[in-house]
Amino acid sequence: MGFVRFDAEGAVGIVTIDRPKALNALNSEVLSDLEACFDGIDTNVIRAVVLTGSGDKSFVAGADIGEMSNLSVAEGEAFGKKGNDVFRKIETFPVPVIAAVNGFALGGGCELAMSCDIRICSENAVFGQPEVGLGITPGFGGTQRLARIIGIGMAKQLIFTARNIKAQEALRLGLVNAVYTSEELMVQAKKMADAIAVNAPIAVRAAKKAVNDGLQVDIDKAVAIEEKLFGSCFETHDQKEGMGAFMEKRKEKNFTNS
Ligand code: CAA
Repeated sequence: MGFVRFDAEGAVGIVTIDRPKALNALNSEVLSDLEACFDGIDTNVIRAVVLTGSGDKSFVAGADIGEMSNLSVAEGEAFGKKGNDVFRKIETFPVPVIAAVNGFALGGGCELAMSCDIRICSENAVFGQPEVGLGITPGFGGTQRLARIIGIGMAKQLIFTARNIKAQEALRLGLVNAVYTSEELMVQAKKMADAIAVNAPIAVRAAKKAVNDGLQVDIDKAVAIEEKLFGSCFETHDQKEGMGAFMEKRKEKNFTNS
């Protein structure tokens, strides 16, 4: 795949957007490559994914402005749908996805990070939704996910003013969970992915689905979703293995996602 690399390190998959000349900006080809990359990940083997950008300057500097500059209304809508479809695929990907934001995460880059389950970033990271300054709205989920993650008032302020924020402010707002030096970022992202990968995959997947699906409905329906997913873990190999290990005071666990 031209613009997206995939590497497996044990049970951790590393997806790297690789278009450094354009600061990893998302044109249609990059979006298609990203989608194909996630479609190709073997989730029988991979238990957590880290998503990052190539180089040390940019995670993703947004959707490709050159490509968007002459779109018609219908083409603009279709481009938004393409991005949204790929990002929903990431958001609902069976195993957790950690965004390791290594620099600019602007527009579609911020939106891509927000479609991941967890965000951590480097000290030089810059987040923002600069779209209104370009005469458009955020179009790959930014108007929806930013408000859900940092709250409506602050999301509207950032979107309407098109102000970029640095890593420490992103941390304070809860947009990222932690800030590391550039050297440490991938080390810590992989460490977190490893910590996820050692747990029962069946339970991690069900927990991701419970959080995601429950947030879309009222609390009565949400706890019912949790009950179903909680129940679905029982009678599985992984549940018997996890509880068996506890009862036997055994540290080693052999989870098989079954
Ligand atoms: N689209 C296309 N090309 C981009 C790009 C983008 N979003 N961001 C950067 N590039 C390209 C530049 O055009 C430049 O290419 P050339 O060398 O061929 O001229 C190259 O990447 C390097 O960029 P700069 O020279 O501008 O680097 P810089 O360090 O001076 O500035 C920057 C970095 C502040 C990120 C600046 O590039 C910038 O402002 N980029 C645009 C950011 C932006 O507005 N993103 C939102 C896009 S709209 C969107 O994403 C819509 C949506 O919601 C779906």
